[in-house]
Amino acid sequence: MPGLKGRDILSLVELSPKEIALILRRSSILARRKSAPQRLRGKTVAMIFQKPSTRTRVSFETAAAQLGGHAIYLSWNEMQLGRGETISDTAKVLDRYVDAIMARVFSHDDLVALAENADAPVVNGLSDKHHPCQILADLLTLIQYKKRLKGLKLAYVGDGNNVCNSLLVGCAKTGVNIAVARPQGYGPDPDAVRHAREAAAMSGASISILEDPEEAVKAADAIYTDTFVSMGMEKEKDARLSTFIPKYRVNRELLSQAKPGAIFLHCLPAHRGEEVTEDVIDGPQSAVWDEAENRLHTARGLLSLIL
Ligand code: CP
Ligand code: NVA
Repeated sequence: MPGLKGRDILSLVELSPKEIALILRRSSILARRKSAPQRLRGKTVAMIFQKPSTRTRVSFETAAAQLGGHAIYLSWNEMQLGRGETISDTAKVLDRYVDAIMARVFSHDDLVALAENADAPVVNGLSDKHHPCQILADLLTLIQYKKRLKGLKLAYVGDGNNVCNSLLVGCAKTGVNIAVARPQGYGPDPDAVRHAREAAAMSGASISILEDPEEAVKAADAIYTDTFVSMGMEKEKDARLSTFIPKYRVNRELLSQAKPGAIFLHCLPAHRGEEVTEDVIDGPQSAVWDEAENRLHTARGLLSLIL
C-alpha cells in the first residue's frame, strides 16, 4: 500500500478497502487518546466553504488545532472566487501558502479542478456527489456499536443524495450489505452505484436499490436517513417533501422492523418530523451524537495520515 501522505480525498472511490481500514484504525486509536500526537505542527489547512456547515467546519478546525496545526476558514463569497477568480488560479495561490485544502462546494468538478491545480492534498468536505468524511465517521460508529463491519446490513431510507452515494461506496468496500429505499427519480448517482457494485463484487457485500422502506430495513443492523432537501435544492422543497413524506420518514414503526438493537444514524443536520420522527432521533436506538463526535476523530485520523 503506497500510504496516504499527500493524497487527495475527493471520494471513497479512490481509496482501497485497506486504506479505508487504515483511516478507521487511526481514527479509533485517536478517539481513545485525550491528547493527539502533534503531526500537524507548523502546518496549515485552508477550508473553503461554498455552503454552510457546523460539523465539518468545527471538526476539521478542531482536529487541525489538536494535532498542533492551524486551519483557516474561507467563505467562498468572501474570497475572490465569489467575484469570479478561477478555481485553478485560487488553487495555485493557496498551494504556495498552505499544506492541505479542504473544500465544501456545489459542483464536484470544482473539487477535481482544485486537486488538479494544487500539489497540496485536497479533501472533499461535501459536494453534490460525495461526502467521504461523513461516511468515515459513520463506519467508525458502526464499528463502535457493532464491533465489526463485514456482514452487517445498513438500510438507507430517503433521498439518493451525496451521503447516500458515499455510503454505497463505503459500505461496499468494507463488506457492509446496503439496501437503499428511495422513490423513483430520486435514486443515487449511477456512477456511485456502479463503483459500489464493483467494490461489492470484491468484498462480498450486497447492494440493493429498492422502493419500499419496509423491505429495505428487514434484518438491518442500522437505519440511516438524511434530509429530503439538500443544500442548493431549496426551490424543490415542496415537491420533495410531498414525494418523500410520509412513506420515507423513519419512525418507530419502521425502526421496529429492523433487527432488535438496530441503531439509527443521520449525518445531521436533522429535520424532525420530515425525514425522521423526534422519538427515533432522540430515542434509545439513536447513535447520532456519537456519529457526530466521530467526525472529529476521523478528521484527526485523516489529517494525520495525509499530512
Ligand atoms: N454532517 C455534516 O456534514 O454536517 P455539516 O453540514 O454541519 O458540516
Ligand atoms: N445531503 C445534505 C448533507 C448535509 C451534511 C446536503 O447536501 O445538504
